[in-house]
Amino acid sequence: MPRTKLLAIAGSPRRGVNTDLLLQELSRGAESEGAEVKTILLNELAIAPCRHCDCCLETGRCAIEDDMQWLHSELRGTDRLVLASPIFFMGVTAQTKAMIDRCQALWVLKYVLKLPIATNGGGERRGLFISVGGRRVANLFQPAIATVKSFFKTLDVTYAGALLFHGIEGKGAILEHPTALREAFLAGQRLAQD
Ligand SMILES: Cc1cc2nc3c(=O)[nH]c(=O)nc-3n(C[C@H](O)[C@H](O)[C@H](O)COP(=O)(O)O)c2cc1C
Repeated sequence: MPRTKLLAIAGSPRRGVNTDLLLQELSRGAESEGAEVKTILLNELAIAPCRHCDCCLETGRCAIEDDMQWLHSELRGTDRLVLASPIFFMGVTAQTKAMIDRCQALWVLKYVLKLPIATNGGGERRGLFISVGGRRVANLFQPAIATVKSFFKTLDVTYAGALLFHGIEGKGAILEHPTALREAFLAGQRLAQD
């Protein structure tokens, strides 16, 4: 049996703190169920913002030659997708949004050229969103969730839910949460199963 492939995308510019720790725990959970996890650190990649040049409209290929070219292949080939981004000004981070916008080329493949997006051999694709925000306000995560759902839909990834924690601001804040890391581990196990 081939192992389930999970792509874990870290969208925070900070290493080893809140969303990163949640993503790591989720990855550990998935690995404990046999998944093969590949982690992408967006802040360390060169991903320019979409220019809306419309070059992709003809071919479904983005004209900008940077790390997004191989990341498109990873996004298309994975069985499971986890996107982790803190809330910045009520949305995902700039690093995350740049990556999402650059998937316009995949949107063209799917909706204009009517070509298949997934290259993972036909298995169901599912994904989760991980986020934290410093404030405690109603609807803190709603704009980001809408963006992530739109991203997943373009990729033919079923949105299987989210791990969301508000009131998380300082670097060690998530470590003080009573259940967050355990919840992430269990979510990783569930995501890797069947
Ligand atoms: C530029 C910037 C914008 C932010 N905007 C928000 C916001 O709109 N709402 C909120 O609750 N927290 C906001 N925060 C706080 C972060 O979401 C919070 O510090 C979070 O813990 C960072 O996650 P990380 O440790 O995984 O990077 C912002 C932080 C920065 C640096």
